[in-house]
Amino acid sequence: MKFNKQLFSACFLFAAAFAPTEAAEPVPEEFGSCTVCHGVQLKGNPGTGAPRLSGLQTWYVENQLESFRMGWRGNHSADYTAEEMRAVASGLSAKQLKKAPSYVNETVSSLSFTHTDGDVDKGKALFASCSACHGATGGGNEALAAPSLLVQSDWYLEKQINDFRNGLRGAEKDDASGQLMAASVATLKTDDDINNLMAYIVHLQQQEMK
Ligand code: HEC
Ligand code: HEC
Repeated sequence: MKFNKQLFSACFLFAAAFAPTEAAEPVPEEFGSCTVCHGVQLKGNPGTGAPRLSGLQTWYVENQLESFRMGWRGNHSADYTAEEMRAVASGLSAKQLKKAPSYVNETVSSLSFTHTDGDVDKGKALFASCSACHGATGGGNEALAAPSLLVQSDWYLEKQINDFRNGLRGAEKDDASGQLMAASVATLKTDDDINNLMAYIVHLQQQEMK
């Protein structure tokens, strides 16, 4: 067949248009299953309820896998997504448990935003109580086991805040860090509070990306 330059460039353009914007790194075999729910490059998938994992702090991932395995998280039939992750965490091998925190931390994906309304200034006032543990700009504090709020998707942060408020997370007696956080959401009285707080957290995330 004669080389057809036009056809070649058409194919090239087609491929470029549909190429993923983030080059997917090959997934290590032992973590292939994570991407099924957590999405390509672990960027999160609101459809499965599985959050973004890329960039999470290693110690936080370690804590959370333990929390699921101990049944501190995923212990309520009203929270079926957490139940799903609890089942996954319980089935992990020693090798997977050891390697998961750094694998997760090192994957790269961009943070996207779904939150659209809320009053940033009112949210900022509410955030004053959070900053004691999560840091003035939300970067987290390992000594207090409080994670960064800058690397996680807004829809998931909001679900977790409501889970803490509704006793679905942080309610088990041996879960010291979870309890610490659960006690801290008592300052949030209404859904408007949550909405305004989320607007401010998204604002902090967008500042961080600048
Ligand atoms: C069957 C789907 C599914 C699979 C497979 C899965 N996860 Fe999850 N994972 C979830 C869901 C859903 C949540 C959110 C739970 C909630 O709503 O509280 C979650 C939450 C997490 C969290 C907590 C994140 C946070 O910020 O609170 C970590 C860490 C995690 N998963 C790690 C992994 C790893 C590592 C793998 C692969 C070994 C994996 N998951 C496989 C569904 C899954
Ligand atoms: C007394 C310390 C403390 C305060 C104050 C506090 N938190 Fe936390 N927060 C924590 C700890 C510790 C965790 C981790 C809990 C765990 O390990 O399950 C956490 C977890 C979270 C999570 C879950 C993140 C994820 O990826 O799963 C969210 C969201 C959160 N905090 C938001 C807030 C907000 C918003 C405020 C202010 C209203 C706040 N926190 C105040 C200590 C605190």
